[in-house]
Amino acid sequence: MHSQIAIEARGLSKNFGDLRAVSELDLDVPRGQIYGFLGPNGSGKSTTIRMLCGLLTPTSGTADVLGTKIPGNAKLLKPKIGYMTQKFSLFGDMSVQENLQFIAEIYSYPKKDRKPRIDELLGKYDLEPQRKQMAGTMSGGQKQRLALACAVLHHPELLLLDEPTSAVDPQSRRDFWANLFRLAQTGTTILVSTHYMDEAERCHRLAILDNGVKVADGTPRELQAATGMHILEVIADDPYAAQAAIAERAEIASVTQLGVRLRILIPERYANPIEIVNNALASKNVSGNTQMATPSLEDVFVAVTMKPEDRSK
Ligand SMILES: Nc1ncnc2c1ncn2[C@@H]1O[C@H](COP(=O)(O)OP(=O)(O)OP(=O)(O)O)[C@@H](O)[C@H]1O
Ligand SMILES: [Mg+2]
Repeated sequence: MHSQIAIEARGLSKNFGDLRAVSELDLDVPRGQIYGFLGPNGSGKSTTIRMLCGLLTPTSGTADVLGTKIPGNAKLLKPKIGYMTQKFSLFGDMSVQENLQFIAEIYSYPKKDRKPRIDELLGKYDLEPQRKQMAGTMSGGQKQRLALACAVLHHPELLLLDEPTSAVDPQSRRDFWANLFRLAQTGTTILVSTHYMDEAERCHRLAILDNGVKVADGTPRELQAATGMHILEVIADDPYAAQAAIAERAEIASVTQLGVRLRILIPERYANPIEIVNNALASKNVSGNTQMATPSLEDVFVAVTMKPEDRSK
């Protein structure tokens, strides 16, 4: 009987010299789900993924990945996982077909099954026309599809995808996510790092990292319900002046201009957020229409990665 948990990490940490890239990370990733990994640049996403693959030894802490203990058993783990790096790691001077053949060789994929499997992948990932093309000459979207085909060739139970969509257009991103949902549907567990909020929203669960520390963990809805902030929007004729007037106020945790709108976060302990904003506008003779808004994942991200002094205003 398989455990219902694909990844269970406890106190996972990684130091690079004086830098603590990942700090005391606890992570529970259920099987068959898509688990998102969010965080600003340098927050430790890639480092964590590399530890979970067995490519990097943790400074301290442990993880159980598909029943295999990390650190120490990377060889046992390799056949069960697929890993797609941020750079896609393809062989640029080999054709699409040769890249797949090479991966089949690395994983000792049964020889007689190789050709049908590669044909199947070329079809599934829409790469048939590029079969003979050198991987290095392909577009970003094509490279991404080939990297995914390489990562899943050996039918891994767990896919670790490190920012797989950072180099592709919106349509390719949607198609890519359709592929991920199909894989999850057939039981594959997926851990995927991303900077895109719309992608985070598609995950069953997600964790947000900041400076190597997990600052939030839950379903998108749970996180949206627990920002600890009032979210407000102001539509102003002069959004720049409105922003300046609002930012001055001590109660404001964050104010961001989005076109003609301002998005404002005020800690929940203030009972009268609309009044706070309207008073700020009135004191500078700026006109604006203030309304409460529903928290988005972007608000969650802003709230949990802001400086502690802003959060506790
Ligand atoms: N091999 C290494 N040696 C020294 N420092 C490293 C090494 N690998 C990562 N780091 C540092 O660890 C921190 C976390 O890096 P990491 O690549 O895990 O972040 P990330 O969340 O993946 O960022 P990004 O969104 O930019 O990909 C960074 O400060 C980085 O410079
Ligand atoms: Mg990274």
